[in-house]
Amino acid sequence: MSKINTAVIPIAGLGTRFLPITKVVSKEMLSILNRPLIDYAVQEALSAGIKKFIFITNGRNKSVLKYYGEDLLLEKYLKRNKKTEIFKSIKKITMSKSKIKIIVQKKPEGLGNAILKSEKYLRGEDFCVILPDDLIKENNCTKELISVYNKKNACVLGLMKVSKEEVDKYGIIEPSLISGRNIKIKKLIEKPNKNIAPSNLAIVGRYILKNKIFKYLKLTNKGSGGEYQLTDAISLYNKDLETWGYRFRGKRYDCGSKFGFFHAQLDAALVDKDIKVKVKKLLKNKGEIK
Ligand code: G1P
Repeated sequence: MSKINTAVIPIAGLGTRFLPITKVVSKEMLSILNRPLIDYAVQEALSAGIKKFIFITNGRNKSVLKYYGEDLLLEKYLKRNKKTEIFKSIKKITMSKSKIKIIVQKKPEGLGNAILKSEKYLRGEDFCVILPDDLIKENNCTKELISVYNKKNACVLGLMKVSKEEVDKYGIIEPSLISGRNIKIKKLIEKPNKNIAPSNLAIVGRYILKNKIFKYLKLTNKGSGGEYQLTDAISLYNKDLETWGYRFRGKRYDCGSKFGFFHAQLDAALVDKDIKVKVKKLLKNKGEIK
């Protein structure tokens, strides 16, 4: 069994729900206080033991390398002005260029197509996929999935329960065996109508994938939304090889929606050491919290 060393992070979406700001700032760079959304995915991966990153971009969003790259002028300024804490925090996020690969998905043809673009750079390795729109806090979901993968030597997907009204926003699975948080998957359907959804167990944007998935990605036809869907490729894979789900622990914010993004901002502000007292007072004055 190979180890999971690489995270594939798709960031090729055009962020239309966040226009007009996404004309100039790509969605993954929108900030939750002073950190961009993408950094939550990257830090989750790093603390799960990931060493390398493949970002699938749309060719217009070029900030990832700049964000994780070295900025000598800035560092010099911070040092000279004795801004030690900020200097350290900037140094901490800096990654060597050799750890990052940027791939361009020229046409928006879906998540399945985006993941397929990473094949030749993975050189046969199994890997994880993190969708930055799904911000997960309070627990490292990727780390938990890797530990299930280590036991099962199979693809493992992050799962959560959603309401029946929401099943058509997600990939939905049908379980065949439930053992605590581990769920063996019988079937998968991308964004089913609530009348045909086999359960309310939805896929979150966390996947550990066996390299064999590429064979099935190539066999997948266009599906929901006229795009190549990763769920459809996993569904084909699952006909031949075992796939597991794991009902993760932690709090998930849907940062693909304005409300989810705002919720993440608010919760971050409520624990930020510099502003939490003021924010609580503000909400109290507005009668929002006791
Ligand atoms: C993607 C996947 C879907 C999954 C969801 C999680 O959908 O295709 O299966 O449930 O992410 O956020 P998207 O939200 O990109 O439409």
